Amino acid sequence: MQGVTVVDHPLVQHKLTIMRDKETSTAGFRRLLREISLLLCYEVTRDLELTTRTIETPLTRMEAPTLEGKKLVFASVLRAGNGLLDGMLDLVPAARVAHIGLYRDHETLQAIEYFFKAPSDLENRLVIVVDPMLATANSAVAAVDKLKQRGATNLRFLCLLAAPEGIAHFRSVHPDVPIFTASIDERLNERGYIVPGLGDAGDRMYGTK
Ligand code: URA
Repeated sequence: MQGVTVVDHPLVQHKLTIMRDKETSTAGFRRLLREISLLLCYEVTRDLELTTRTIETPLTRMEAPTLEGKKLVFASVLRAGNGLLDGMLDLVPAARVAHIGLYRDHETLQAIEYFFKAPSDLENRLVIVVDPMLATANSAVAAVDKLKQRGATNLRFLCLLAAPEGIAHFRSVHPDVPIFTASIDERLNERGYIVPGLGDAGDRMYGTK
């Protein structure tokens, strides 16, 4: 599918199966989400540009590769985005972080914003928006709308599961934003849940409901 990368690494797929299993505990789910986010982060940053800098090893001087450009921004869509954020910060500890508070009105399925805090200079940075579930894509579209209003021009969207309906909606509004996901599932149900999915990611992660 154009603009969508499915991360089909066997470790990702194996961990995802355990996360989908309704018998998996809250602690297990959280641990797996952290582990999987490391692997997804590796993929979403695979083509980052490098430059070199001169260093001295114990043996000699060398021109060694180092990341080019300004620090990345990880933009977490609250609250479930935080489950992906932690592992990503393990891999890229210098990244800046944006938080976007959106909740889903259960009647209309529309995204309502209640919080937004981001670094002020988004223009010159790669912004990776993280939210485990791309379902209707209403939250993802609203999050990217807001980040673009605040100056972001270079964005990627990273999730764990995507519904075909969500991908189509997101791509129709933000065709310039590539999507990275561990799976494209079958469909959305009438309540806006991804099927077969894994249930409510926030509830599974935090033991709520
Ligand atoms: N959000 C979730 O947490 N799960 C879904 O299936 C859809 C949206």
